Amino acid sequence: MNELTRVLGIEHPIIQGPMGGGPSTPELVAAVSNAGGLGSLGAAYLTSQQILDSVKRIRALTDKPFNVNLFAGGYEPVPRSVDPSSMLSLLSEIHAALELPPPAAPSSVPDPFPEQLEAVLEAQPPIFSFTFGLPGAGAMKRLAARGTTIIGTATTAQEARLLADAGVTAVILQGEEAGAHRGTFAAPFEAAMVPTLRLIEETAQIVSVPLIASGGLMDGGDIAAAMKRGAVAVSLGTAFLTCPESGAPEVHKRAILNAGSDTTVVTRAFSGRPARGLRNTFIESLEGKEDTILPFPLQNVLTRPMRTAAGKRGNAGYISLWAGRGIARARAISAAGLVARLVDEADTAGY
Ligand SMILES: Cc1cc2nc3c(=O)[nH]c(=O)nc-3n(C[C@H](O)[C@H](O)[C@H](O)COP(=O)(O)O)c2cc1C
Repeated sequence: MNELTRVLGIEHPIIQGPMGGGPSTPELVAAVSNAGGLGSLGAAYLTSQQILDSVKRIRALTDKPFNVNLFAGGYEPVPRSVDPSSMLSLLSEIHAALELPPPAAPSSVPDPFPEQLEAVLEAQPPIFSFTFGLPGAGAMKRLAARGTTIIGTATTAQEARLLADAGVTAVILQGEEAGAHRGTFAAPFEAAMVPTLRLIEETAQIVSVPLIASGGLMDGGDIAAAMKRGAVAVSLGTAFLTCPESGAPEVHKRAILNAGSDTTVVTRAFSGRPARGLRNTFIESLEGKEDTILPFPLQNVLTRPMRTAAGKRGNAGYISLWAGRGIARARAISAAGLVARLVDEADTAGY
């Protein structure tokens, strides 16, 4: 137990990181919370009704605390200057191979955050976390007024300071090893690729809120190392993605479990925003053609039909195989089994 586990109401300082787009099912969230960790629902791609339904399902499966996560930023209006023709012609060929109708570029992609926030306020999860930015002061006030514990995501020590100044209870530090999208919001992406352990040390020198380490942490030895550097809890995504309760497509789980070494890269290919995943055919087809990639969220919307169709067909070449740099140590065990194993290993490693 420490200061943060007491505030969060959890037994072990182990958080299952939110994984938007399907992996963090209510079943996974509840299994982790029931095992004494903190389960997190990645709700960024859910509608308001889906958020309410998911939270209801989590509450039916556990009476323990849990977290709901949204993207609080990153949705820029679609710039007029963007020419989608090269991307559309590349996607047309892939669509034809996948027997999909030709792709079409949307003229606008509205930011879902304001509506999703209303659903979160109504659902009243005990904990709310966010990434890609900072909710406005009004949103922070309304969440706090409901007694919600608020956690922000930073990729640099300076971002952590901005979050602390805005009143978060704790900060998730996302090191460069982390799977999926970079949470960077106040630095150039290239300047915010700090390894997890160094990020903890740098941030601990300038910020006094509790720090949660994430990125490349796969076993109890990694957890002990992060805690020794100054983190008071850890957040693991990839390690939980391969659990049976995770909703990631089987083809995604298999690609991680079969990876004998780190073959991940950071790419803008799938969404327009830098994210870490296993290198595959689609990423390779855009190497050297990065200037044809549209900005987030436009690229994300454009590649969705391709990703959905490829996922259904078990085609690993055209789905986003998000994963962190620790993939070679992924295991296919139950979420409760994984939490117990992590606790034992961290004990053995001297924490
Ligand atoms: C498939 C996938 C989806 C993710 N989606 C989100 C998300 O919606 N919101 C968020 O804050 N973090 C998201 N993350 C980041 C995780 O919560 C966690 O910080 C990260 O996975 C830690 O690095 P690791 O994968 O090396 O453990 C995602 C990670 C993965 C692997």
